[in-house]
Amino acid sequence: MPKRANRNIASMASAGSGTAVTCDVAIAGGGVIGLATAWSIAKGGGTVAVCDPDPGRGAAWVAAGMLAPANEAFFGEEPLARLLIAGAARWPDFAAALEDATGSSIGFEPSGTVVVACDPSDRAALDRLLDFRQSIGLDATRLSASECRRRIPSLAPGVSGGAEVPGDHQVDNRLLVSALLEACRGAGVAFVRERAVAVELDARGAARGLRTEAGSEIVAGAVVAAMGWQTGGLEGVPASLWPDVRPVKGHILRLRGSEPIIPRTIRGLVHGRACYLVPRRDRSLVVGATVEEMGDDRRVQAGQVHTLLDDARSLVPGVDELELSECSVGLRPGTPDNGPYIGWTEVSRLAVAAGHYRNGILLAPITAEAIVALLEDGALPGALTPFGAAPRAHGRPARGAR
Ligand code: GLY
Repeated sequence: MPKRANRNIASMASAGSGTAVTCDVAIAGGGVIGLATAWSIAKGGGTVAVCDPDPGRGAAWVAAGMLAPANEAFFGEEPLARLLIAGAARWPDFAAALEDATGSSIGFEPSGTVVVACDPSDRAALDRLLDFRQSIGLDATRLSASECRRRIPSLAPGVSGGAEVPGDHQVDNRLLVSALLEACRGAGVAFVRERAVAVELDARGAARGLRTEAGSEIVAGAVVAAMGWQTGGLEGVPASLWPDVRPVKGHILRLRGSEPIIPRTIRGLVHGRACYLVPRRDRSLVVGATVEEMGDDRRVQAGQVHTLLDDARSLVPGVDELELSECSVGLRPGTPDNGPYIGWTEVSRLAVAAGHYRNGILLAPITAEAIVALLEDGALPGALTPFGAAPRAHGRPARGAR
């Protein structure tokens, strides 16, 4: 793998349609993974072009921004849990570096999470999960109902208990994405605001760049496919090369009040359904999220909004008083075993970074670091080895509600 194909290229910010762009690395997809990767490569001196009609406005824009290695660790997914823990460890430095580069806060709040069970059967389910999480070394402590209410005074009086999870934090996903865009521009990343439709190959069958729907060509020393659930739609290489990534729909709500109604993130189980409430510094509250196998369906549906609101107010009745300011839908990049695909494909000089499912924001820094290592040394860092780019046939379908 050439380290850097062309060090002398000028920055080509906002290249237009029909342009030919030459760079070290062409990234298909300007979501949080593509942007974090582009910034990391550009900081190291590489020239990068990101190809996306609307960078930063995919799943990460809709998300809640939870950085939750413990609450996203599930039975049978120990390798993924280890990756989430490694991913979380990168966050303090990543947030500080990004805030330094842009001079803007990204709302990184290392304030922990309180988990709450609504009824006794939710409590039993939560206790089993806690046992599992503690068994793999995650920090979580059981709380009685009154201990939960001491931490979150606005909780409903009837909650059954819960847990303190000190290592699960949050970042303001929209501030994050905006800062990444700014940092990328500051580091000279070129944005080609067109959709990548094909990987272009040279005479030896190695990736030599990307082609967009408007006919622009990005010629590069290496290509990274990071188009979330749409990654497998890139043409120019056999479809069987791509990992199995599908859209998993999530409804999410944004509410607003004159006072913060909770001091920090709550994750709840409400009659078997998962629900989270994430307070922002600007006094807005993010409530999410459904997990729906609906394919590429971006409709906001009344019933799902109703269920989310109902579950949120079962945990925190004060939700009733808030203004409902936004109902949105995101499409997570789901995979058969819920783990991402990060690494070289069988096509020389073509890498993939996709399928981060519920953990794209948490895993953005470690993914960027891994792609930089791949480009420089050719190999994936250890924590990532179970998550290489080759399609994985094993694994279970993603669960429903979490
Ligand atoms: N990361 C939480 C979710 O995907 O809903």
